[in-house]
Amino acid sequence: MKKIVIDPVTRIEGHLRAEVEIDENNIIREAYVSGQLFRGIEMILKNRDPRDAGLLAGRICGVCTNSHFRGAITAVENAYSLAVPKNAEIIRDLIAMALFIQDHVVHFYHLHMLDFVDVVSALSANPQATTQEAHKYHSHPFRNAHAHYEAVLTKLDTFVKAGRLGPFSNGYWGHKAYRLTPEQNLILLSHYLEALKFQTHISKAIAIFGGKTPHPQTLVVGGVTSVADMLNPQRLNDYLFIIKEVKEFIHRAYLPDTKLLAIAYRDEIKAGVGRANGNFMSVGGYAFEGELQLFESGVVYGHDFDTIHPFDEHQITERIDRAWYNEAHEIEYTDLNEDGTLKTATSHDKYSWVKAPRYNNQTMETGPLARMAITYKKGNPLVQSFIDEFLEATQLEFIDLSTTVGRNAARAIESEYICEYIFKLIGNLIQNIKYYDTQTWTHYDFNALPLQAKGRAFLEVPRGMLSHFVSIDEGKISNYSVIAPTTWNASPKNYDALRGAYEEALIGIKLEDPKNPLEVLKVLHSFDPCLACAVHIIDTKGKELSRFKIGNG
Ligand code: NI
Repeated sequence: MKKIVIDPVTRIEGHLRAEVEIDENNIIREAYVSGQLFRGIEMILKNRDPRDAGLLAGRICGVCTNSHFRGAITAVENAYSLAVPKNAEIIRDLIAMALFIQDHVVHFYHLHMLDFVDVVSALSANPQATTQEAHKYHSHPFRNAHAHYEAVLTKLDTFVKAGRLGPFSNGYWGHKAYRLTPEQNLILLSHYLEALKFQTHISKAIAIFGGKTPHPQTLVVGGVTSVADMLNPQRLNDYLFIIKEVKEFIHRAYLPDTKLLAIAYRDEIKAGVGRANGNFMSVGGYAFEGELQLFESGVVYGHDFDTIHPFDEHQITERIDRAWYNEAHEIEYTDLNEDGTLKTATSHDKYSWVKAPRYNNQTMETGPLARMAITYKKGNPLVQSFIDEFLEATQLEFIDLSTTVGRNAARAIESEYICEYIFKLIGNLIQNIKYYDTQTWTHYDFNALPLQAKGRAFLEVPRGMLSHFVSIDEGKISNYSVIAPTTWNASPKNYDALRGAYEEALIGIKLEDPKNPLEVLKVLHSFDPCLACAVHIIDTKGKELSRFKIGNG
């Protein structure tokens, strides 16, 4: 057995380390995935006014700001049994939905795509052939003119000649695991550049109701403060205009690009590359019309989608056997050698800052794949056509979605699905306003609220299921706890020795070139890791990790 250490794995969003053990055929037999960034926002939240929980929890992560803000506000509302007006819920959903789309597009093009796309190969593409190639995946491909591809090629060529590959400088160009033709590479790179513009547009949409982004600031306990934006037709129009624009990109670029990958990487998909243990979980949510909601809740074991169990929050436990905490959940960092260098993981030591959540004593995968699969298999009529169409176009089966490429497909399908939903959601809001229902905040007297209370929030956010738990004593927060989507997926082992989704998905993968372990990066990136979210205290002193020996002598 040989050990390979990859550190860091993520391009942004915190520090993830992967250690894999490979046999003589370069096949991965064991994996240890470790969260390397210690966070502690929960400690900062202690003794604070519960009304500030949202603002503080929003700082858990610079990417998932709105998700934690809303999680905290919702947990406090739950503790005080405060109902939120319908319109406030819609506005919160409009912010959240725009964030789903933003996260998915940024993840695919800017955090993950270069695991599939060889930049250098694109330089030899024929622009005319590229135009024809794009037509295989959509009848009106996004920016598909011959001249446009010429311009992209000139831009790329300038970068390469000047030796300034910029964001493209760290790839494994020429690696055998790359499968795309020069023309296919050029299509995706063209969309990589277009997606940069997309980012600025969708950020504006979030800011219309959120005040700003990242870190929207219009959510308050009991409702929202962006009532003026809700009543101003121009603002609603601006929001809708942006969504229409981004929908074009999703429909004509993003979704076709995932189809292109699904067809080009068919062998890999059929071999089940990147598949975890098939345990999926979704808490559902986002009210739609009547009883319908955007996402269904449920739990699936071992890919048995014919038996979807109801989600039960009491089945959740959190263990720290192999995480750097002691039984009192204090820090117990033991990952340094005598000389201060990092130890590598062993079969019995602690090796991660991420705690190990379990559902019914099992590790679980959460995220867009879990959400889309459970929603589809529970027969939600809203999502059926979106998934059927994708499977039809790519000639894949449902089980094929439980792979590295499938996770990306699930995100693209979800983005398209959400765009449809947003238009209807705005319609519901306008309908309410027409009937003079303009309430966006539930009045309460803070001084009359109970001094002691407990609350929690479960919600689906872009990366999966998020839960916040708050305890209030003498009117102040006495305890706070978060389980983020990445906490589930990046779970370390326990004394139960079960692998989390990241680790399980790596087992059995063959590395073409152990010195350039592109295959490992590809699998881990497909989960859209957010380590800032997964672990909770920031090391403000930078690299002085040994400081965390403080506290246990
Ligand atoms: Ni995050």
